[in-house]
Amino acid sequence: MTRVRLFQVAIAGFSLTTFLLSALVGSAKPEKAENAVDNFHLLDHRGASRELYRQKHSKAIVLFVTGNGCPIARQTLPALLELEKEFGPKGVQFWMLNANPQDDRASIRKEAEEFGITAPILLDKGQWVSEMLGVQRTGEALLIDTTHWTIAYRGAVDDRLGYATQKTEPTRRFLAEALGSFLEGKTIASPRSEFKGCKITLKSETDHTPPTYTQHVAPILAQHCVRCHSPGNIGPFAMSHYEKVKGWASMTREVLLEQRMPPAPNDPEIGVFGGHPPLSETETRILLRWIAAKTPRGEGEDPLATTAPPKPEPWPLGKPDVIVAMPQEFAIPATGVVPYQYFEVENPIQEDVWLRAAVVKAGNPKVLHHALIFVKYPEHLKSIEPRQNAGTAGFFTAFVPGAESIPFPEGSGKFLPKGTKIIFQMHYSPTGKPELDRSEIGLYRLPAKPQWELRTRAITQTELLITPGQRDYKAKASYKFRKEAVLHHLSPHMHVRGASFKYDLVRPDGTSQTLLSVPRWDFNWQTLYRLKQPLTIAAGSELICSGTFDNSASNPSNPNPKAWVAFGEQTTDEMFIGYYDIAVPPLEPVTTPKAVKPTKTAAATPPASESSTRR
Ligand code: HEC
Repeated sequence: MTRVRLFQVAIAGFSLTTFLLSALVGSAKPEKAENAVDNFHLLDHRGASRELYRQKHSKAIVLFVTGNGCPIARQTLPALLELEKEFGPKGVQFWMLNANPQDDRASIRKEAEEFGITAPILLDKGQWVSEMLGVQRTGEALLIDTTHWTIAYRGAVDDRLGYATQKTEPTRRFLAEALGSFLEGKTIASPRSEFKGCKITLKSETDHTPPTYTQHVAPILAQHCVRCHSPGNIGPFAMSHYEKVKGWASMTREVLLEQRMPPAPNDPEIGVFGGHPPLSETETRILLRWIAAKTPRGEGEDPLATTAPPKPEPWPLGKPDVIVAMPQEFAIPATGVVPYQYFEVENPIQEDVWLRAAVVKAGNPKVLHHALIFVKYPEHLKSIEPRQNAGTAGFFTAFVPGAESIPFPEGSGKFLPKGTKIIFQMHYSPTGKPELDRSEIGLYRLPAKPQWELRTRAITQTELLITPGQRDYKAKASYKFRKEAVLHHLSPHMHVRGASFKYDLVRPDGTSQTLLSVPRWDFNWQTLYRLKQPLTIAAGSELICSGTFDNSASNPSNPNPKAWVAFGEQTTDEMFIGYYDIAVPPLEPVTTPKAVKPTKTAAATPPASESSTRR
């Protein structure tokens, strides 16, 4: 998939440097407390995002280690449910952790359904969280203090269960006692207790020799990281040789545990998309083990120092047939909020053309936060002008930093008639010093009219009103296809309070399928997801977008949890848009003056496939 990076954070005026500094400083903790728990991110058995340090709103997290089919874990469930009833309302969240290599998401879901488990079960197949926490068996409960990020208690839930014996009533309720004392701010009398459980098959038991940089680590970095972490590309440092990579090891451990790098905000178990494959659990494990083993170099040449890094190409698709530039340079001030800038240019091509690609090249990537390009067709072609709701009328192409330039899908193109006006909508983020920008669009012609016209459409909910501090504001909108279409791309759009986004397709026979799920939205990585297999959508199918917003202080990107937030263009407002690209037979313009009159003929009304649900 094409990963794109708006790495200058949302609020204009907040520069990349400030951001990077704050990211680095933010993670520089004082002396590490004993029993400290580092941040981590995992998906749960329902595919929802669970990041530890985003749980500040809770007083504590109980993490119970489970595994499918383990009798002790199963028999502890009723006691845990009781505790959840008692302590849930007092600000304690109950999570479970499954690190069994033999359990997958489907079987964990089944186990959860069978045993009525409502708590999220975090999937730790790579076992890096279990290893960090020193977990070896199921049946253990860990009480995590969310103020200090330490383990306040670990051990048994109670002493009712033995390996072959069971008491009817426990004599000690260790976890309840610990929770009681913890919530009252008292010292926990028994911060540890013995517990019983099923042994987890730990990968660390068979990982005898630590990985080395030259043999194991450098090839992974070359495949997954170097395209951004190389000179002139968007990563903040170049992974150019051993010493450099070694120097970034601690920070690398952090971004891997938090699953922030390489940026992959979507659930890898849903949909198959083109582009770069995600980092696998095994690869993550190798990198983390290498860091834990104090970054051994290994024998031989340094693979990253001896192969040339990818060079940033001004026009990755080759020289365009026509380049359209902004009419003049725009001066961006050193600081402040720059409102969206609009520039209009006449299409210089003196005939109707079909394009195989239209890409934007940032004049000054340091300041260009994003650009949207719109077209206004001449009067006689208004009936086929790309139309949209939510301020996207005439959408043509877009730019976000780090976006890969890709052509339109095979067999499709976009139409650019003679006499069209091209509009640049530019969003700039000041960097701390005055800057200039003059961006360009590269147009690549097709020799003939293609079989398909690629149309960008949007499903949107424009009525949003998110209350201050609200953590789980839900949005939903859908579109029912009146004509068959072929789906190629999906691209969700929200701003900094966005939390999750999903596309579901419900077919006319009632069956449904999730096409894309982004469980942890990241404004900085707006992504165009390219379906590996284009999907034919039957007439009568409904495409449903659903998502959530987090306006609480637990959302690290939230600029102001006290604000009311509504739909709007600025990044401090919100948006809920599910863009999608479909291929349809090229639309025929309505040429006779009579037919242009609305309501006269069927052809004069917008083609069925052109209107999205308006809210
Ligand atoms: C698509 C481009 C891209 C890829 C691929 C990528 N990075 Fe990054 N990386 C960035 C950008 C941009 C930043 C700075 C901003 C940020 O933190 O998101 C960054 C920051 C970092 C940081 C510094 C921490 C921080 O928060 O600033 C580390 C460490 C890192 N990346 C490691 C990796 C590793 C390891 C991989 C591969 C497994 C990787 N990156 C792949 C773009 C990328």
